[in-house]
Amino acid sequence: MNDKPVSVSTLQKRKADGEKFAVLTAYDATFAALLDECGVEVILVGDSLGMVVQGAKTTLPVTVDDIVYHTRAVSRGSRNALIMADMPFMADATPQQAVQNAGRLMKEGGAQMVKLEGGASQVEVVQRLTELGIPVCGHLGLQPQSVHKLGGYKVQGRDEATAEAILSDSRKLVEAGADMLLLECVPAELAARVTSSVPVPVIGIGAGADTDAQVLVLYDMLGITAGHRPKFTHDFMAGSASIAEAIQRYVREVKEGRFPAAQHCFH
Ligand code: KIV
Repeated sequence: MNDKPVSVSTLQKRKADGEKFAVLTAYDATFAALLDECGVEVILVGDSLGMVVQGAKTTLPVTVDDIVYHTRAVSRGSRNALIMADMPFMADATPQQAVQNAGRLMKEGGAQMVKLEGGASQVEVVQRLTELGIPVCGHLGLQPQSVHKLGGYKVQGRDEATAEAILSDSRKLVEAGADMLLLECVPAELAARVTSSVPVPVIGIGAGADTDAQVLVLYDMLGITAGHRPKFTHDFMAGSASIAEAIQRYVREVKEGRFPAAQHCFH
């Protein structure tokens, strides 16, 4: 369990010490309490809630009110985990909107950090938020809010030009003040390059085993997501006697570098 409050500096120290940490999504107080007890260091109130809680086809319909509501529930349930809340689609279209909406996630929801999708185009937003004392995690690689532009949920950064763009965006976000990065669905080799070239912790999902941390959507790791399950997910309930045991196995396997395994990675 997390016996002390997890802060951004706790996670920076984990990176410096070469210790991996575990992240999972949650959307309610009961699961937040269980994740915290099982040693999950960061709880992400992701806009994935649009798909896995609300049943929408994409994350695009999720509103700031939705994220505030679920973040408030999660922050009431969790004791020590760091609560990261997603900025939903268009909540960060301008620095002014981002300040107002991130402020709500923190003041009304109790978030301790916000996550936003986008690279170089988000530099000004990240600068303004971090100047105001709001910790930011930049989300690069596959950005689900851009699904219609991307033409589907596809691995990003497979060719040299897009890989270089992701590497350059990572550096720009960190220079702008981002305290953490999240890489989704990129080749493991690219994620390893990004992780070793930035001073902040890098969380991966479908990004290989060499990032500083891993995240999964809670219902994917419990094996209860309906329909298609992406290759990078793993059903930790299979072979576990309880939900708590499945979460503890996930935390242990992330920390020991055993999850993700070769079959969960892209190249
Ligand atoms: O919304 C979410 O849950 C996420 C994860 C998939 C990383 O952004």
